[in-house]
Amino acid sequence: MSVMPQRFSIHRAFRRHGLPAFQDENCSQTSLAERAISRITNSFTYQAIFSAARVIRVRLRSIVFNWRLRKEDLRNLAFDQRYGTDTAAEVPLDSAGVNAMDAQRGNGAYRAVWASEFHRSMAALPIEHHRFVFIDFGSGKGKAMLMAADYSFQRIVGVEYAPRLHQIAVRNIAVYREIAPGCCQFEPILCDALTYVSPDEPLVCFFFNPFDDATLRQVFHNLRLSVKRHYRDVYIVYVNLRTVWESHYVFDDLDDYLLVRSDRKYLIYKVPA
Ligand SMILES: C[S@@+](CC[C@H](N)C(=O)[O-])C[C@H]1O[C@@H](n2cnc3c(N)ncnc32)[C@H](O)[C@@H]1O
Repeated sequence: MSVMPQRFSIHRAFRRHGLPAFQDENCSQTSLAERAISRITNSFTYQAIFSAARVIRVRLRSIVFNWRLRKEDLRNLAFDQRYGTDTAAEVPLDSAGVNAMDAQRGNGAYRAVWASEFHRSMAALPIEHHRFVFIDFGSGKGKAMLMAADYSFQRIVGVEYAPRLHQIAVRNIAVYREIAPGCCQFEPILCDALTYVSPDEPLVCFFFNPFDDATLRQVFHNLRLSVKRHYRDVYIVYVNLRTVWESHYVFDDLDDYLLVRSDRKYLIYKVPA
């Protein structure tokens, strides 16, 4: 026969141990004690439920993320097969001609942005794309630059500090141009983003989680100085495939930058003068 678990009760405990029932005058004190104990047990139960729910949520997110990763890897390969480019394979930066310290500043590796997230962020920009120059800060093998060609930007610039990735980007652009001749003007530039001087045109500055916080902060600051020097519309589009929360220390400090759109995976800011 199964025994039903009973909730702890002071009254029941007193009865079981042959203690006299509570007198009326003790009643209010007892019920206070009982309520306190019941609150404590309830709060332990709630805490256990909340931490279990948190663990399950984190696990589920990681399962979904890995599933998306595999799916997007296949899409990246399909893109390369279609255009004859080489953008899909990940590359550690220390094998792409970057020294170990600089590689750390650059988050360690090249990987291409997912097409779906790139297009979602571009579609969320409240602009007429043809008035703007697109700059990919940390352009790697040029995948985001090639996809930006769908948006009739005036020009498409890529700033990359890894010489081997820059060479691959140059080749990718040439191959892509054969399929889509005259689609737009590409400018892949081999340069550290910290020392890059932005052009004096309206800009869409794209960042697919390319730098550590200190570098990101400095590059945003440089953009601000550039807008101060020469006023025009400059947008920051920041994409992070896990969550933009990873860089919240940087974005929390952008007090007077105007947050235009946001989502779990992208943020769009307008740089103030
Ligand atoms: C995550 S990959 C993004 C590649 C590309 N934007 C895309 O979406 O396909 C980040 C790139 O930033 C580059 N990078 C990191 N730090 C840099 C810096 N200080 N200056 C220029 N490029 C940098 C890395 O070499 C890497 O290619």
